[in-house]
Amino acid sequence: MRIKTFEAYQIAYRQSVEDPEGFWAEVAQQFQWRKPWKKVLSWNFNEANVKWFEGGVLNITENALDRHLAQIGNQPAIIWEPNDPEDKAVSISYNVLHDRVCRFANVLKKHGVKKGDRVCIYLPMVPELTVAVLACARIGAIHSVVFGGFSAKSIADRINDAECNMVITSDGAYRGSKVIPMKETVDAALDQCRSVKHVIVMTRTRTPVSMLKGRDLWWEEEVKHVDSVCAAEPMDAEDPLFILYTSGSTGKPKGVVHTCGGYMVYAAYTFANVFQYEPEEVYFCTADIGWITGHSYIVYGPLCTGATSLIFEGVPTYPDASRLWQIVEKHQVNILYTAPTAIRSLMSFGLDYVKGHDLSSLKKLGSVGEPINEEAWHWFKTNIGSDNCPLADTWWQTETGGIMISPLAGITHEKPTFATLPLPGIQPVIVDENGKEIEGNGVSGNLCMKFPWPGIIRTTYGDHERCKQTYFSTYPGMYFTGDGCLRDEDGYYRITGRVDDVLNVSGHRIGTAEVENAINMHLGVVESAVVGYTHDIKGQGIYAYVIAESEPEDAEMFRKDIAATVSRIIGPIAKPDKVQFVTGLPKTRSGKIMRRILRKISEGDMGNLGDISTLLDPAVVEDIKRGAL
Ligand code: WTA
Repeated sequence: MRIKTFEAYQIAYRQSVEDPEGFWAEVAQQFQWRKPWKKVLSWNFNEANVKWFEGGVLNITENALDRHLAQIGNQPAIIWEPNDPEDKAVSISYNVLHDRVCRFANVLKKHGVKKGDRVCIYLPMVPELTVAVLACARIGAIHSVVFGGFSAKSIADRINDAECNMVITSDGAYRGSKVIPMKETVDAALDQCRSVKHVIVMTRTRTPVSMLKGRDLWWEEEVKHVDSVCAAEPMDAEDPLFILYTSGSTGKPKGVVHTCGGYMVYAAYTFANVFQYEPEEVYFCTADIGWITGHSYIVYGPLCTGATSLIFEGVPTYPDASRLWQIVEKHQVNILYTAPTAIRSLMSFGLDYVKGHDLSSLKKLGSVGEPINEEAWHWFKTNIGSDNCPLADTWWQTETGGIMISPLAGITHEKPTFATLPLPGIQPVIVDENGKEIEGNGVSGNLCMKFPWPGIIRTTYGDHERCKQTYFSTYPGMYFTGDGCLRDEDGYYRITGRVDDVLNVSGHRIGTAEVENAINMHLGVVESAVVGYTHDIKGQGIYAYVIAESEPEDAEMFRKDIAATVSRIIGPIAKPDKVQFVTGLPKTRSGKIMRRILRKISEGDMGNLGDISTLLDPAVVEDIKRGAL
């Protein structure tokens, strides 16, 4: 299962294409199954139906926890670094984590949560977040983790879409110098939700909260009164494990569903191979568990591999821009997996923050979430990795469950800004606008997959048709990623970014339609159009063109109000960076906004706007150009 040389990679890759079922059966055998599968794979992309390891029965927590207890029960499963560096870090062994997960699973059961029920988790980056996730998995409840930065409205939408009957949250959260209310936000969300029977509240900040009798329960109280034994629920390989909402180019975020068997096999296989994890190495992924990277590469992948996974509560710039390097030194981190945005941001503070920290424990680096520019790639490699750590630029998506295209650390020859080669089992194809495969090297186009892998999305919760439409209908017979890419002369892949109306702001996926809907909620707004523009630190910034009811008297104030509205409807991550007031938008005669033009203007690229003759009113373009920010 573990690939150690480039030749072994080539052999594994070939085998995975020639005999995918044989290949993945061999990988899956390394895990603990209660009952073996009857059929490795059945699939039909036209119907968006994929099943892996059908008939197999397992529980992912037995693989993430129980399986390790005899050998490495005392090894840290989690190291937790709190927001404030003066507070004590906590190390939680596999034995202790197992105990805590079982106890909390019993709490969930006691309050009526059963297999198949949906549980919303809205917590800061504390060990309890991992405990809550695994406790759900233990009893077969489907977790839906909502990133702690989302608004009450976003939480409510997600709770209602999945009809969750339980919410797990905390009184508050520490994030850098800020204390953020959590329970209060959940309370506001629950005003709009009918399905929730109980809220479990963990104490973190001692922020005063209102506790509703009969509904709300304190975490610390509850875990006192339950047993520490909790048998794992037997799960079919294709039973859902979790839902994670993600933005697309249209409408509300979709609930991406992953299932127990295939997801586990894929997350663990890719973790072990991409990072070449060796026993006792300390692995630190800076993502939040509220995103897929945290699900697959803080919780499930590492724990199913018996790794030590570091969880950091705070932000890379608090108390100052040396925090990540302090953590690396303090915990002797061997593997660091982070995002280009974090790298660019820390880069901008200068090398003084890096100097003076002993980073010699680092052996491997990883990057994820957005294209990494050459400057950031070299800075990370040279100044953090001392030019002797491999750097894996890992391309993947919420929908893919795990890493798809990436170097294997230290094995695959690297090229800055290239995610390099597909992992075994992954069959990328590049297609043109008409869906025709572009073969050969030195080509570019839209990135699709022509064969399923175990971690592929199974459905969008409650709406299978949407899954079919979004991923499997653009290019029939293929999974469409929404990304553009090029394949160079060596067959190496470079991901160039989204080709749909999805933005990637600081590595966060945000749909332009979502932001527009939020802006349009403001009383003073008639209509808006949102595009992304190149931003030095964030990768992309959000540029909003807004038609106001009447010319704003105080434009600056109005901009702030719009930002506050977006924050309230979606969350602070979706706030526009620039708001330009316009009198009209460039629309075609059929009423479609020509974003191509707006994108160019937002980039300051006014010269060649292409053909604007099909516009209803070409004169608006001149106005917009004049007022560009
Ligand atoms: C982008 C995050 C370039 C891409 C794991 C994809 C990347 C979207 C890379 C998925 C990378 C992710 N290079 N682009 N290494 N990794 N992306 O669902 O546009 O939050 O479609 O999953 O991020 O974002 P998501």
